Amino acid sequence: MTNPADRWGIHPDHFWLHGQQPEQPVRFDEETGAWNVYGYPEAQHVLADPETFASDTSRFFPPEASMYSEGDLTMMDGADHRKLRKLVTHSFTPKTVADLEPRIRQVATELLDAVEGERFEMVTALAYPFPVIVIAELLGVPVSDRDRFREMVNQILQIGAQAADMSQVQPEEGTGNGQATQKFADYMNEQAAERRKRPREDLLTQLVEAEVDGDRLTDAQVANFAGLLLAAGFITTTMLLGNTMLCLDRYPRHFAEMRDDRAKVPAVIEEALRFLSPIAMTARATNVNAELGDCRIPRDKFVQVWFSAANRDPRQFERPDEFNPSRESSAHLAFGRGVHFCLGAGLARLEARVAMNLLLDRFDGLRVDPDNPPTFLPLPAFTGPETLTLLTK
Ligand code: HEM
Repeated sequence: MTNPADRWGIHPDHFWLHGQQPEQPVRFDEETGAWNVYGYPEAQHVLADPETFASDTSRFFPPEASMYSEGDLTMMDGADHRKLRKLVTHSFTPKTVADLEPRIRQVATELLDAVEGERFEMVTALAYPFPVIVIAELLGVPVSDRDRFREMVNQILQIGAQAADMSQVQPEEGTGNGQATQKFADYMNEQAAERRKRPREDLLTQLVEAEVDGDRLTDAQVANFAGLLLAAGFITTTMLLGNTMLCLDRYPRHFAEMRDDRAKVPAVIEEALRFLSPIAMTARATNVNAELGDCRIPRDKFVQVWFSAANRDPRQFERPDEFNPSRESSAHLAFGRGVHFCLGAGLARLEARVAMNLLLDRFDGLRVDPDNPPTFLPLPAFTGPETLTLLTK
């Protein structure tokens, strides 16, 4: 049985998805000037040592880009990161997330109620709008604006994606990206200002009212953080839903077993996260000279940690290229590790579990439509379908 990456041509240059192991767990790329970390223990090492491997990679980007990183948790280090993260953690506790389940189920049910006929495009019908509605409701921004988010966020994500190819990093001011980012920041700023005037029962209001060590967040911090949640909160889950379907389509035995025993749904989702990790890569910057694997990485170097390659490391996962939801221990890195561990992991897992169960309830013969092959997000930092047409019978 061909694996999904070979079958659908997912990121041909992500060789680890195509059954090849890297020659070395850490490798310098002369063309881009970036250090690539492919191995599991090496990736773990980088993520566990934020003093050496900083999340603030703004030194590699033009100064204009840094105006959007204020309040962006993923780019913060040390005490600043701890303070902001503490502030928002209570909105994502297991209890808060579990309480969202009835509303989450209702949203997915309504979206699937609109699906008709023998085939449907899963991303448009479910995988895209579902997490957007959930995160937009949580924040309190009008759900009616969701199509605007898609356009704005897709363009903003290009900036992050450029990190995977340093040759593309260039000043963004005046470009489509710069304008899109500005538009999105303006939009979130308006929403934050509105909450200052008229507080509501939503996360945006919590953010504008919150105090960290006696300080309030600035409008820019609130806007950028809310923007991060919107961006992080939906494109990732969109990819996870699509990737889970792609895996099940290629491994029908596991699909049948999950259908017969719904208790297996969470394990299938975990294995899909390992097997096709939606966030393929994150970036760090060396603050000092570092030792990693057999390599010496000088200070001020750009380091790309490939979660998706580490998740195929045979030193950690027996027969890593086998899709096997019954693995004894998964411990994948799809949600990262350490102080930046994904804030929304619980929410993403819940959304995926609810969506997969509803899909199973409704459709007996769900499979990828061979006449309409899926297309994929081209950005190297992401692995997931942009369109995915499914047959329902
Ligand atoms: C399948 C879905 C998701 C995946 C695969 C994913 C993956 C990740 C990864 C790998 C990181 C760590 C990045 C790094 O260390 O540089 C991260 C961080 C983060 N994620 Fe997620 N994520 C998902 C869903 C979500 C959701 C639903 C939300 C919010 C509603 C969210 C919010 C965040 C935030 C705020 C951070 C930054 C945390 C910090 O820097 O302290 N994510 N995510």
